Amino acid sequence: MRYVLAAPELPATALVIPENRMARRRRIYEGKAKVLFEGPEPGTLVQYFKDDATAFNNSKHGIITGKGVLNNRISEFLMMKLAEIGIPTHFVRRLNMREQLIREVEIIPIEVMVRNVAAGSLCERLALTEGQPLPRSIVEFYYKSDELGNPLIAEEHATAFGWASPQELDEIMHMSLRINDFMTGLFISAGIRLVDFKLEFGRLWDNDEMRIVVADEISPDNCRLWDSKTNEKMDKDRFRGDMDKIEEGYQEVARRLGVLPESGPSDVTGATAIQ
Ligand code: TMP
Ligand code: ASP
Repeated sequence: MRYVLAAPELPATALVIPENRMARRRRIYEGKAKVLFEGPEPGTLVQYFKDDATAFNNSKHGIITGKGVLNNRISEFLMMKLAEIGIPTHFVRRLNMREQLIREVEIIPIEVMVRNVAAGSLCERLALTEGQPLPRSIVEFYYKSDELGNPLIAEEHATAFGWASPQELDEIMHMSLRINDFMTGLFISAGIRLVDFKLEFGRLWDNDEMRIVVADEISPDNCRLWDSKTNEKMDKDRFRGDMDKIEEGYQEVARRLGVLPESGPSDVTGATAIQ
C-alpha cells in the first residue's frame, strides 16, 4: 500500500492518506528531539526528527532550524556505516527529509557515554581541563531517567535492578568500544575530532533469539565533535553554551561527511511518498 504523508513538518498532526482516505497516523512516543509513529509493518516505527533542542535536563529549550533534517541524514549515514562493519542497529532506511524507518526495540534504560577527551560533565566531576586527552577511552553508564536527571551509575546498579544483565553489559561495552574506534577514524578522515558521544541500545527479537542493537540516533545532538585543527565546536555544545553559528555547526558536520542535502537543510514542502 502507498502511504502519502501530508505536512511532514507538523508531527503532532501528521496525516497519512492510505488509498486517498485521510487517517491519523498513531503517535507512539514524543521525546525532546524526536517523535515515534507507528510504522507501516508490525515491528517497525517511523522516527521523526524535530528541530527542537533541549539541554541541562530539559531546562533550556530552543529551535535549531534544519537540525532535524541534518540529524536524520547524519544518523542514517553513521548507522549504515556501522551496519557495514557488522554492528547491528535499529535503522532500516530513510523515508524522507525528516523521517526514517526503524525496527521497534525494547530500549535498555541505560545511556552509554564513550569519552576520548575530557569535556562536559567529566570535567566538572573530576576537575579536568577541557580538551585534555584521556589516558584511554572511558565508557560510562547513566540511568535513563529524566525525573532523576540521568544519574551516573555503576554496572552493579544496572544488574541489581535488572536494567541489563551482566552478559548484556559486556556486549554493550564491547560494541561501544568498537563503535568508538570505528567512528573516531571515520570522523578523523572528515577533519573532525570525536571527543565523546552517547549511545543507546535496544533488545530486538527475531523469533526466539534476542539481539542487542544500537538504537536512538547518532548525531551532533549526542556527540561532541571538534574541528581537528582548530578545536572549534561543531555540535550541540554551541547551543548549550549560548554560542553563535549553531545551525552552521550541524551543517558543517553533514557537509564534511558528504551528506548535506543539495537543497540545503530546508524541509520538504508538500506531500511526500513514504512507502
Ligand atoms: P556530558 O559530558 O554532559 O555527560 O555528555 C557526554 C556526551 O553525551 C556528550 O557527547 C553529550 C551527550 N549527551 C547526550 O546525548 N544526552 C544527554 O542528556 C547528555 C547529558 C549528554
Ligand atoms: N538532552 C538532554 C536534555 O535536554 C541534555 C543535553 O543534551 O545536554 O535535557
